[in-house]
Amino acid sequence: MHQENLSITQYNETGTSHMENNNVLEAKQIPLVAMDAMNDVHREELTIVNCVSAAIADNNGAKITELCEQWLEHTKAHFARENTLMETHDFPAFHCHHGEHIEALQGLETIITAWQENADLEALTIYVRRTWPEWYINHISTMDTVTSAYIKSCL
Ligand SMILES: [Fe+2]
Ligand SMILES: [Fe+2]
Repeated sequence: MHQENLSITQYNETGTSHMENNNVLEAKQIPLVAMDAMNDVHREELTIVNCVSAAIADNNGAKITELCEQWLEHTKAHFARENTLMETHDFPAFHCHHGEHIEALQGLETIITAWQENADLEALTIYVRRTWPEWYINHISTMDTVTSAYIKSCL
């Protein structure tokens, strides 16, 4: 199968990728939204997550911990920026989009805390390689796409 046809549905039950590298997604798989600044942030976050996946493949616990901290900080800043943009422009579906951010941030914090406390590599691997990529594509193709189009129309 050609590289461009690979999708997130091709992970087996242990979350192992069939791809040659350990990337959970390629940048070109991220849906593009109307605002370039948001697209840049989305690509940055994917870069961090792909590094987490590579650190998992290397079984490098210290690196996983360091990268997970970066990932959490990046996610908090990413969501906070979008929340502020929505508030500034009175985005009508603010609560819906904001609610997904709250839920996703709680999920990420829970999995990272579990990693820090129990070093549960399997749970982290499933989250990084399966749960998160599915959520990310879905969230960007719905909430971020609609929000970005609305805000761009206000500018
Ligand atoms: Fe976003
Ligand atoms: Fe968002």
